[in-house]
Amino acid sequence: MSTNTDQHRRQEIESLREQIRHHEYLYYVLDRPAITDAEFDALMNRLKQLEAAHPELVTADSPTQRVGGQPREGFVKVGHSRVLLSLDNAYSSGELLDFDRRVRELSGRDTVEYVMELKLDGLSMALHYEDGRLARAVTRGDGTTGEDVTENVRTIRSVPLAAAEWRIGNAECGMLEPGTPNSALRIPHSFEVRGEVIMPLAAFRKLNEEREAKDLPKFANPRNAAAGSVRVLDPGITAGRRLGFFAYALLREGRTLLPEHWQVLETLSALGFKVNAHRRRCAGIGEALRFIEEWEQQRESLDYEIDGVVVKVNSVALHEELGATAKAPRWAIAYKYAARGAETKVLDIEVQVGRTGALTPVAVLDPQPIGGVMVGRATLHNEDEIARLELQIGDVVQVERGGDVIPKVVKVNVEARAGREQELRPFRMPDQCPVCGGRVVREEGEVARRCISTNCPARLKESILHFSARKVMGIDGLGEALVDQLVDQGLVRSVADLYHLTGEQLAALERMGKKSAENLLAEIEESRKLPLARVVFGLGVRHVGERLAQTLAEHFGSLDELMKAQPEQLMEAPDVGPKVAAAIHAFFQEPRNRELIERLRKAGLQFAGTRKRQAGGPLAGKTFVLTGTLVKYTREDAQRRIEEAGGKVTLSVSRKTDYVVAGADPGSKLDKARSLGVKVIGEAEFDALFVE
Ligand code: IVH
Repeated sequence: MSTNTDQHRRQEIESLREQIRHHEYLYYVLDRPAITDAEFDALMNRLKQLEAAHPELVTADSPTQRVGGQPREGFVKVGHSRVLLSLDNAYSSGELLDFDRRVRELSGRDTVEYVMELKLDGLSMALHYEDGRLARAVTRGDGTTGEDVTENVRTIRSVPLAAAEWRIGNAECGMLEPGTPNSALRIPHSFEVRGEVIMPLAAFRKLNEEREAKDLPKFANPRNAAAGSVRVLDPGITAGRRLGFFAYALLREGRTLLPEHWQVLETLSALGFKVNAHRRRCAGIGEALRFIEEWEQQRESLDYEIDGVVVKVNSVALHEELGATAKAPRWAIAYKYAARGAETKVLDIEVQVGRTGALTPVAVLDPQPIGGVMVGRATLHNEDEIARLELQIGDVVQVERGGDVIPKVVKVNVEARAGREQELRPFRMPDQCPVCGGRVVREEGEVARRCISTNCPARLKESILHFSARKVMGIDGLGEALVDQLVDQGLVRSVADLYHLTGEQLAALERMGKKSAENLLAEIEESRKLPLARVVFGLGVRHVGERLAQTLAEHFGSLDELMKAQPEQLMEAPDVGPKVAAAIHAFFQEPRNRELIERLRKAGLQFAGTRKRQAGGPLAGKTFVLTGTLVKYTREDAQRRIEEAGGKVTLSVSRKTDYVVAGADPGSKLDKARSLGVKVIGEAEFDALFVE
């Protein structure tokens, strides 16, 4: 009678196990749960209860035994039955076509069928099944020897503890496609499955959140998190990490038993393993390339990371024929997508000077491969960006590169500073140009500092092109190719050197003959005669365009007057506000620019012009100050009228002021005028001045 209840109990236990396995399979392998979590827990609790009451009935493959063992001291090293090879990489369609050509040549076929799989970014694992039960899980290690992590891998729910036996006996869940030979049923009970352990992104994010809350260091990426979780000594920890396993190889004694790789995947699936659904058979390399393109976009939608696609020859007979190098099989290749980024250390920050004089800080990195190229430098854009990143020299940073875009530093890994404080150095943008030593100016409202020295070697080519442009000094023959040669050969180190070039020097240059050299010299010669406004424009002062150069030339009458002007005086000229006045003033303060101007003077350029404002008119020689609001004129209109009549407008009242024009709500200028005894007039009197 007791045997009867025993049998009953055994049956109930076995039935519970089967139900639990079935629901684990639906949930973890197929992502298609059929019952609620509570219903599942009820089944599991009932099984645990029965097993607790009858420990003699507990088996190693019972679903209750995923988390069994106690924490261990360390891992045991295990040799692999056949080396776990790596894969060669391709980074372009060209390299993939080369691979296809090699395969076709070696195999003597016109076209080769491929199987496409996603390249999962995790860690590879070898699972050994004996009598249909998971006996051992071994990490890749160095490919020849790995570590026994069985206890931890047992906690991964998509790894069947009792694969073959259970699946083989369950026709109901049979995954074999119609037409596929029933090879699954002939799979021996001892076999090896290889695949990738991954951590889904959702689990990764949750894990890092938990670690942050506990002040523990975060994992840099899901791969590191998966590897770390597999290598903890306490399987209880692995169990809580929600890892996944995707199978991609089935071996016995190191050999594939099926004729096609596609069948391997189908069979693994039929045996209850999770096989990635995003796979495809391709009739040739063209179709393979399409799959790669499709997944480049779609990979963002996956809940786990992939770093590429694996292209595998479908025919296993061809695998044998093609063989392998010491490192990788010749029948497969990984097409790697451009990596989103890498973590590396900032060894230094250098400052580059661009063609416009803008200073750009650049991070010098410990070189890392990103998207198949070694990246040793990354732009930091400007000093505000460095401040935003809170970056210091010595920091560990995340560097990203999308497509052909210049690599950039996107984030500082602040946690990585711990214990390395001594290595860190704050960075300061220089006040002097790192190329020429000239002054560096950061204007209000701008993010960049600029070198303002026209002859700065970094700016020189651009300066020459500007100087010689048609609307400037009109040296038409000086194109980009010629400027490159002149500067690169050291013939021109300053814009002023243009005036010392000789016919022989020019004729010796590429694509220059005697005739074109003569023409160019003639143009340079002609340019000496151009009026002051052109020279002012040619200097390349920031904000001074064609029109303003004309205005300045007319207002100051000579380059010497313009050079001497203080910002307040500059602002007396029409269209010159504080920002422009500051830029002009800074330009002429720079000794390198003064030196250039002296050399241009010696070259005979026109430094004197005609002062338009003094050229006759009813108000010639009269100085005005405007204050308050006029009815008929805006301030600019009034200023223009005065200047057109030969007068001058200044901002502050002095004894030299002839008239203060006072409108409504005049300011302190009116008081000043009165205290100095300067004549104050209203709008009507002002109007009357223009009547000759
Ligand atoms: S096949 C001999 N298939 O990529 C064949 N590997 O870079 C070797 N990997 O060590 C592996 N997804 O860890 C294969 N669908 C996939 C893969 C894959 C990820 C990993 C694997 C391997 C590494 C090589």
